[in-house]
Amino acid sequence: MDWTEHYTKTAENFSLQMNFIHTLQEQTKHIRNLRVLDFGAGPIPHTVSIYGRLQEDQETIVAYDPELTISSPSSENTFEPEVKWTNRAPTGETFHLVICNFSLHHAGGDLNSIIKRLASYSPEMIGITDYDFTQATREDFERTFISQQEIKELNTFFRGDLQACFDYHRRLGLNDFKRGLQESGFNLVASKPGDKIAQYKFFLIGKRG
Ligand SMILES: C[S@@+](CC[C@H](N)C(=O)[O-])C[C@H]1O[C@@H](n2cnc3c(N)ncnc32)[C@H](O)[C@@H]1O
Repeated sequence: MDWTEHYTKTAENFSLQMNFIHTLQEQTKHIRNLRVLDFGAGPIPHTVSIYGRLQEDQETIVAYDPELTISSPSSENTFEPEVKWTNRAPTGETFHLVICNFSLHHAGGDLNSIIKRLASYSPEMIGITDYDFTQATREDFERTFISQQEIKELNTFFRGDLQACFDYHRRLGLNDFKRGLQESGFNLVASKPGDKIAQYKFFLIGKRG
């Protein structure tokens, strides 16, 4: 792949993510002092944290990831003052919005139970981006699972075993996520698939009914 192709493909993924963020901004604009939980935010604190940063008067972004290795309170805030990075689930706290950006398929266990646990944070909304490879062939997977992070995941978690990586990522699809939200009392307010290289990705937003 030459570098222009790489950026075109990145752009298609990025476009879905931006669409997700803009939709979340629209859906949360009525909420003052917005409190957001970024669930499975990533193992390394990063400076951008755009998925949680939605409104100017926002109160909180808690970026939770069980794999986060930096845990001392002073270093937690070094990278981004408005983002509280933690590797401890914020049990007992409440949030207006829980965002799961490509994290739920990694959370293990039964999807409905995980979403029920998210509901215990009393969110008005849950926003999810994830994969639906349920109708895809292995060739489709190989052609589209190509972002830097995906290649890293293929090589680290699956030791380069494409079939194992494909089997893992096609366990769940859009309908499973929709059902999980609905079973926890969240009605769909937005749902969109990606385009081209991002065609096996989607975002979903559920609002408490
Ligand atoms: C593909 S990464 C996505 C990271 C980040 N949200 C992003 O968009 O770059 C999946 C993340 O899910 C996290 N994860 C794994 N098990 C989890 C669990 N039980 N609860 C929450 N997050 C989990 C992993 O540590 C990993 O950082």
